[in-house]
Amino acid sequence: MRSFYAVVPLSLALRAAALYEDWHFGNMFAIGPASNAQITKATYSLTPPAVPCGSVQEKSEAPWLSIWVGVSASMSDQTADLFQPLLNWSPDQEAQGCPATAEEWCVATSTYHLSGQVQQPYITVPNKSQIDFTITVDSNEITQEVSIAGEQVSKQSDDKSVSPTFLYSSNECYLNSCGTVAGYSWDNLTIHLNQADPNFGETLILYNATSSGLTTSDEGKTWHAESIKINEDYFYTDGSQKECSS
Ligand SMILES: *[C@@H]1O[C@H](CO)[C@@H](O)[C@H](O)[C@H]1NC(C)=O
Ligand SMILES: *[C@@H]1O[C@H](CO)[C@@H](O)[C@H](O)[C@H]1NC(C)=O
Ligand SMILES: *[C@@H]1O[C@H](CO)[C@@H](O)[C@H](O)[C@H]1NC(C)=O
Repeated sequence: MRSFYAVVPLSLALRAAALYEDWHFGNMFAIGPASNAQITKATYSLTPPAVPCGSVQEKSEAPWLSIWVGVSASMSDQTADLFQPLLNWSPDQEAQGCPATAEEWCVATSTYHLSGQVQQPYITVPNKSQIDFTITVDSNEITQEVSIAGEQVSKQSDDKSVSPTFLYSSNECYLNSCGTVAGYSWDNLTIHLNQADPNFGETLILYNATSSGLTTSDEGKTWHAESIKINEDYFYTDGSQKECSS
């Protein structure tokens, strides 16, 4: 569950594209790197869209889709851990360890290491609930917390293996047959830096996404975006872009 091929107009090429050919990354945004500063905290919310429609199982395994925001020290270096609480959905939820029905999402705190994903158990997201995310970077640990209706449902603390300078998102489909993913919005995003970077907001990249952008009220130490909207996305192995019929 990681980064990127050259999706953005930057040199963010995924080094190991061949190795990760089953993973397909879709619409996304990215902010960073912070200049002479690091991310100390990020908070944001999401009300999940409907689950994808039109997924096709073409192999023995079912596809799965994740949507996430994470922090890391790089967008291309696979050895830089990515702290990425994520929503996951699959037509075969059970195979993913997700207790939800196929009409619902699961959510969990989760960290990508080159050696493998380390995460907490998946929790079913009640339909239409707002999910609140907090990622806190202190001197020794990076902690992810996920809450629904004011109640913490998932938490994971990892060693602070990197000093995060990027915050970025993606839609990610394993096997590229997850179908059509409705648009949705990352809301009320606030990023705290340990030192001011007056240009941090200008690093925002939107790939099939829209936002009125990031603003700061303290000369660049704290940055806020009301929302970043991710457009409808399509994962079909033949490249088609179909609407959900219902
Ligand atoms: C969530 O919504 C879907 C689609 O509307 C429905 O099929 C499902 O039963 C709902 N789940 C719960 C727990 O209400
Ligand atoms: C936005 O996030 C802040 C910080 O987490 C929180 O205090 C505030 O209540 C949130 N606003 C809304 C409208 O949810
Ligand atoms: C994303 O944008 C590119 C170029 O702007 C376009 O070719 C592509 O079809 C878009 N993808 C989606 C899923 O909207």
